[in-house]
Amino acid sequence: MTSGADSDGATPGGDGHGAVPDGGDAPTTDGVDVASCARCPRLVESRSRIVNGVGPDDADLVFVGEAPGANEDDRGEPFVGRSGSVLDDALRDAGVARADVRITNCVRCRPPENRDPTREELGNCRGHLVRELERVDPALVVTLGKVPAEHLLDRSVPVTSEAGDVVDVRLGERSYRAVISVHPAATLYDGGQRETFFDAVARAADLAGVGDGDAGGQSGLDAF
Ligand code: URA
Repeated sequence: MTSGADSDGATPGGDGHGAVPDGGDAPTTDGVDVASCARCPRLVESRSRIVNGVGPDDADLVFVGEAPGANEDDRGEPFVGRSGSVLDDALRDAGVARADVRITNCVRCRPPENRDPTREELGNCRGHLVRELERVDPALVVTLGKVPAEHLLDRSVPVTSEAGDVVDVRLGERSYRAVISVHPAATLYDGGQRETFFDAVARAADLAGVGDGDAGGQSGLDAF
């Protein structure tokens, strides 16, 4: 496991996905947490705090969202607003305790007016995610919504039609098995997406061997 900003893709340039020089204000880290970072001037203005991932640092299952919203910025934890309630419901349905999975975001600072993070912001934050996933080394990653799916797969992803698909994603020096999912917020705008979301979470839990399903955990993953 690597740590430290110089060896893990958290340096300017990251792993080649559009990061920009940070003007000498290098991020500092504490284990998998980012303690300080000023790479994105607009986000430094809009955030109250850096929202790091939560959950065990050896979790088998890691959920990757887009960026914190107002509730997350306020409480310093990913997915604690309405989207978080939907995620909690889907985890409960799959027989998984929220405390047993890791939940994080592509970008750790709240964008102004909850806009999508820019490509540059995604690139600037990528090294933090690279380091987190290297450290956690999960059996499976779940991308929550279009932004994380496209960021990790580096292609256009129609998430509704690809939800539940098992893919390989490359981050830094590593590849991870991942399940594509719609964002939990999509279920709030379109009730028809609820089943799609719940099914993807159940499938991921099952494949990672953390749910109460019967796909056989790691042996389920071996099939892909
Ligand atoms: N949406 C996200 O993508 N991430 C959060 O942490 C909250 C809402």
